[in-house]
Amino acid sequence: TISYWNGRYLPLDEVHVSPLDRGFLFADGLYEVTAAYNGRLFEPEAHIARLQRGMASLRIDTGLSAGDWLAIMERLAADSGIAGDLTVYLQVTRGAAASRGHGFPAGVAPSVFGMTSPLKRPPAAWREQGVAAITIPDIRWLRCDLKSIALLGSVLAQQAATDAGVVDAIQLRDGVVTEGAATNVFVVKDGAVATPANDSRILEGITRTVILRLAAEHGLALEERDVAAAELDAADEIWIASTTKEITPVTRLNGKPVGTGAPGPVWRRLFPLFAERLG
Ligand code: PDD
Repeated sequence: TISYWNGRYLPLDEVHVSPLDRGFLFADGLYEVTAAYNGRLFEPEAHIARLQRGMASLRIDTGLSAGDWLAIMERLAADSGIAGDLTVYLQVTRGAAASRGHGFPAGVAPSVFGMTSPLKRPPAAWREQGVAAITIPDIRWLRCDLKSIALLGSVLAQQAATDAGVVDAIQLRDGVVTEGAATNVFVVKDGAVATPANDSRILEGITRTVILRLAAEHGLALEERDVAAAELDAADEIWIASTTKEITPVTRLNGKPVGTGAPGPVWRRLFPLFAERLG
């Protein structure tokens, strides 16, 4: 499959990354995962804006404009050779310096990489029955707003879920909910939706932003605020949301049913509104 590497389009197996690349040595970089349905990218401008905000915060300058990024994503999607839905993965690192040293190297060009993968959409059973999840302590750092390629926290959280035979691990920090392993979390009580506020403890998910927009458009009560861990146990509904998990109802938490144990009415109202946007 075709990939993008520092200004060129070439087969993935022809991309060669230096061992001195700061992505490899320091995880000094950022990434994005964007879905494309029926050949159409979903919210690409929002993904590009988030990437650009992150790069500005890390003082990485690729020289690429939002339009350049969109052109790269569109070309990768168009030439992917993938028949169905797909994801476009983008990654930027601070590049390969002449030697290893923690501080930012001078005069080094960032490494820019892109590739596509087939998108496996959530199975129908997830929408019919919901999924199971566990809670775990959030052991990650305090810049979770950056979509950093340093993903060991997410890797360990996802593996804890897999080891427990469930789909996601909802992370708790100081008594409040932060995120799933790679998802944003929503809780519903008495028809009102709450999700952790957008600060440095969570990633500002694009799916999350779309949910906020849909809630506003359709008059759903939704609050961004601290969500206490105890609210998970009392919730009528819990959802996890991301580019690849869409909006998935969590119907078992730590082995106990959430609400009635089936996908709830607020999710059943919201999900079709979301799904029709995917094209
Ligand atoms: N992860 N929180 C974390 C920690 C994430 O890694 C992700 C996405 C999200 C949801 O963001 P979005 O709605 O923009 O996909 C929240 C991607 C999908 C991944 O790592 O593969």
